Amino acid sequence: MAQIIESAEQLDFSIYDLPTMPQPKQVLMVEPTYFSVDYVINPHMADNVGKVDKLKAQSQWDKIYFTFEQIGLTVHQLEGQEGLPDMVFCANQSLPAFDGVKKHVIMSIMHADERKKEVPYIEQWYRQHGYVVHFLDEEHIQDFEGCGDAIWHTDRRLLWGGYGYRSSLDAYRAVADKLDLPIVTLELVDESFYHLDTCFCVLNETTVLIYPDAFTKQGLELINAVFGRVVKAGEYEAKALFACNATCPDGKNVIIQQGCSDVNKKLHDAGFSVHEVDTSEFLKSGGSVFCMKQLLW
Ligand code: ARG
Repeated sequence: MAQIIESAEQLDFSIYDLPTMPQPKQVLMVEPTYFSVDYVINPHMADNVGKVDKLKAQSQWDKIYFTFEQIGLTVHQLEGQEGLPDMVFCANQSLPAFDGVKKHVIMSIMHADERKKEVPYIEQWYRQHGYVVHFLDEEHIQDFEGCGDAIWHTDRRLLWGGYGYRSSLDAYRAVADKLDLPIVTLELVDESFYHLDTCFCVLNETTVLIYPDAFTKQGLELINAVFGRVVKAGEYEAKALFACNATCPDGKNVIIQQGCSDVNKKLHDAGFSVHEVDTSEFLKSGGSVFCMKQLLW
């Protein structure tokens, strides 16, 4: 079943042929105590070094925590570490998976040196919570930033894999082999959308929210071939408000940066419940709701 799909012609299955996956009922968040913008590793951080309001960041983080609880998820919280200002973006250090029996996790190979030390803290958390921990071969794979680029298809054993800035295509061959599943790969072509989770948000089995200009023609063909409904975000909401960095853990409730009025209208019309939160302090670092959490089984 391990398979890498790079073009629509290679799609030889429909999502209904794939095994089902239970919905994640838990979520991990890393406390923002040491969150700040101290260096620049993506274009959004460029003018924001030293500009994070820490009190505001804490209250925004608290509100997201509360919203996850409100929609029925159990939230685990892990302490941040001094000197690791980006650790709060805990979608990035790992890719959790569930095979129906055991909980697994593949640890990331962070692209930026500044973030490499985050990984062992997250690994330790998984070990304490009964996960089988897997590693990629660092000699052959350059980088892989977990659920920043590897995104689960809702309800199905299928992954979407973004590459180009923080993760390499080679990583997905290894991930597909380890988890024994197909991965549809999408090349990213705009630096502002450096992780797949900045331009692609799976809402339910048949619906995705995307920013089209972040993808190649081939990538858009793949997205259109798999999803029955493709909701599109405009440039302002996608780039300035990170509209596509929303999360929809249950196929119904979408948690999204506040003010995405065009996207929110489209989500309402498609039958989703929208929960707006303010992530302005985290946007300064190039992240919003999706990357501030890790969904877990
Ligand atoms: N400053 C962080 C970085 O550049 C932000 C990460 C946001 N995460 C995400 N999945 N988009 O690595």
